[in-house]
Amino acid sequence: MPADVMIETVALKKHFPVRKGILQREAKAVRALDGISLTIRRGEVLGLVGESGSGKSTLGKTLMMQEPPTSGQIVFGDTEISRFSERLLKPFRRRMQMIFQDPFSSLNPRMSVGDSLTMPLRFQAPDMSASARLDKARQVIETVGLSGDILERFPHEFSGGQRQRIGIARALITDPEFIVADEAVSALDVSVQAQVLNLLTEIRHRWQLTMLFVTHDLAVVGHIADRVAVMYLGKIVEVAPTRELFTRPRHPYTEALMSAVPTPERRAHQRIMLEGDIPSPISPPSGCAFRTRCPYAKPACADSAPPLDVRGTGHYAACHRPELELASPIAT
Ligand SMILES: Nc1ncnc2c1ncn2[C@@H]1O[C@H](COP(=O)(O)OP(=O)(O)OP(=O)(O)O)[C@@H](O)[C@H]1O
Ligand code: SF4
Ligand SMILES: [Mg+2]
Repeated sequence: MPADVMIETVALKKHFPVRKGILQREAKAVRALDGISLTIRRGEVLGLVGESGSGKSTLGKTLMMQEPPTSGQIVFGDTEISRFSERLLKPFRRRMQMIFQDPFSSLNPRMSVGDSLTMPLRFQAPDMSASARLDKARQVIETVGLSGDILERFPHEFSGGQRQRIGIARALITDPEFIVADEAVSALDVSVQAQVLNLLTEIRHRWQLTMLFVTHDLAVVGHIADRVAVMYLGKIVEVAPTRELFTRPRHPYTEALMSAVPTPERRAHQRIMLEGDIPSPISPPSGCAFRTRCPYAKPACADSAPPLDVRGTGHYAACHRPELELASPIAT
């Protein structure tokens, strides 16, 4: 693999068994990830968007090897880690971290901020002295724009924006190379959201981080991502450099998602409403999984799943109708 690749997946699948009856026999499976082949280059921020239930968080967690994949490969740097035991994964854990929507989920309410921040170091760097751990905590807390004297305080004493900064500090304390930020700014007020996005942008450059930035909000992803991948029912349906995706979408699902982003100029009739809910990932539609909601679907779309094909430089889309002229809210 080229040296500039941080993480790569090949035909990655994660299926959750659905058990039935008193014997709890495995009847069906939720196909949360259904063949994801993706590359994230060192130093880049890849945005990951899609409706609720499309599999975004499952992809983030599976890349972190929180649960083993059902099949396929995850290559981190130059090591395939997809079938590693926890013992073999240990040296990799320090190098990959997550930031969550709700920083409370990674902060123990009964622990001081300092204890919460230094906890990962006790596991990852057992030889480090207590004072060195505290120095490191002070360094990361200042990096995220907070003062070192908050280390003795408790999570409930902080506002949502401050807590998210603490969540980011906790992710940074092990000097990771790769971060999955899962809806990291989604719960914040718009003004605080902008501050935290600016902070993440500053940090990614300063710490030369690689990031998968998961969000259901296309407007947010435009501010931070270099490229964007669009997910639908466990598959990537389009991936392109951010500006290219926004100005020249090549998949009807991307067009529909973008039409739901409010802009000052948008008139009501220009909105494409996505009809109906996302189908169940237990039994996705045959052929192109988007066909039950696609305004351009033809009978042939039910026959086979469209492959992710080249549409331009670094631009790929999975649609049987490459001739479609799709609308963009910011087309130039
Ligand atoms: N542990 C699990 N067991 C069974 N099904 C699961 C599990 N985790 C996720 N799923 C299912 O996998 C699918 C994808 O879920 P996932 O949470 O990855 O979606 P998402 O894109 O992150 O959605 P959201 O925007 O709501 O966070 C959903 O149908 C979900 O119900
Ligand atoms: S393959 Fe057919 S159904 Fe699927 S997105 Fe393209 S036009 Fe729509
Ligand atoms: Mg999610």
